[in-house]
Amino acid sequence: MSVITLSGTGVSWPCDDGDTIMRSALRAGLGFPYECNVGSCGNCRFDLLEGEIEELRTDAPGLSERDRGRGRRLGCQARPLSDCAVKLRLMPHYESRFRPVRQAATLTATRDITHDIREFRFKLETPAPFLSGQYALLTLPGVEGSRAYSMASTGDQADEWHFQIRRVPNGAATTKLFDGLKAGDHIEIDGPYGMAYLREDAPRDIICLAGGSGLSPMISITRAAAVSPALAGRRIDFIYGGRAARDIGGKEMLEELPGFGSTIHYHPVVSGMPEEEDGWNGYRGFAHEVAAKLFAERLPECEIYFAGPPMMGQAIQKMLIDLGVPPAQVHFDQFY
Ligand SMILES: Cc1cc2nc3c(=O)[nH]c(=O)nc-3n(C[C@H](O)[C@H](O)[C@H](O)COP(=O)(O)OP(=O)(O)OC[C@H]3O[C@@H](n4cnc5c(N)ncnc54)[C@H](O)[C@@H]3O)c2cc1C
Ligand code: FES
Repeated sequence: MSVITLSGTGVSWPCDDGDTIMRSALRAGLGFPYECNVGSCGNCRFDLLEGEIEELRTDAPGLSERDRGRGRRLGCQARPLSDCAVKLRLMPHYESRFRPVRQAATLTATRDITHDIREFRFKLETPAPFLSGQYALLTLPGVEGSRAYSMASTGDQADEWHFQIRRVPNGAATTKLFDGLKAGDHIEIDGPYGMAYLREDAPRDIICLAGGSGLSPMISITRAAAVSPALAGRRIDFIYGGRAARDIGGKEMLEELPGFGSTIHYHPVVSGMPEEEDGWNGYRGFAHEVAAKLFAERLPECEIYFAGPPMMGQAIQKMLIDLGVPPAQVHFDQFY
């Protein structure tokens, strides 16, 4: 175990062997800024003043050569090899409601949602609650590094976490998940993480925008919002975008919720060009275009959650800024 000291503050915390500086800070209840947890966003940068670390991902896109030259490192990728002194600004906003825990989990079942999205259900060794919309890090045997996946279930089911995961062609983790794991196999799960969780203290109508791999956290948020007493009677619009008709899914999970068709509305949208007999009679375009068309004036009055590929995230953010939606009402953890 190493001790990490925050320079000039008197704050310090323990970091277990194998853990990272940022994750150990969150486990200690501290607000260490972060977002992706996989070395891509750069939000967890800190100054290493003293001590030695090992970088888990040496090619992490979140750290430039310039940063490195100035002694900066990524908290999510920095594993201490000695006691360390660091400099950064803690922010209460990042303190975890439920502190993340690393533990073993067992795959209990899988089911297909679309041709390339599958739900994976893992039983945790020790039940752990989370907020709807949060994610966990999965460490898979034979795969270098861990990957972030959002839960589709809700925190009420603290002993079994469900993840809806899109297969990435030749992707290291998704190939292992889809082709190399069977019921009864063990992996390591570390979580919960993430700031894009359901705000039950914001009694506004809700808009969930999901594309491709972003289905899972939006399903979790809608499931929790549908039964939240604080949000009773609030309208929830769920827009799900895919490239082709066969990419569209999720409706059957929403249909099971109280209020489907009255307060909960599902709007699937396909972005690819019409193919002959693709059988698609619904919206065509991108999810953010449909949101702008259907809800333009209402958007600034709503709480907005979104998840999906980086290009989609950028398009949604631009649309929301253009329409004057207050940033405090918009919640997302960028996928990488
Ligand atoms: C916050 C968050 C939530 C996400 N939620 C979901 C979800 O619910 N469903 C879903 O389908 N996808 C989700 N993703 C995407 C997912 O984490 C993977 O990027 C995706 O499944 C591809 O992984 P792969 O290993 O198959 O592909 P690869 O092409 O092998 O790896 C791609 C990604 O893995 C990461 N990576 C690569 N090497 C390393 C390493 N050594 N250490 C750590 N990270 C590395 C990088 O982020 C890279 O973009 C999420 C991503 C983030 C950041
Ligand atoms: S780079 Fe560490 S949280 Fe994104």
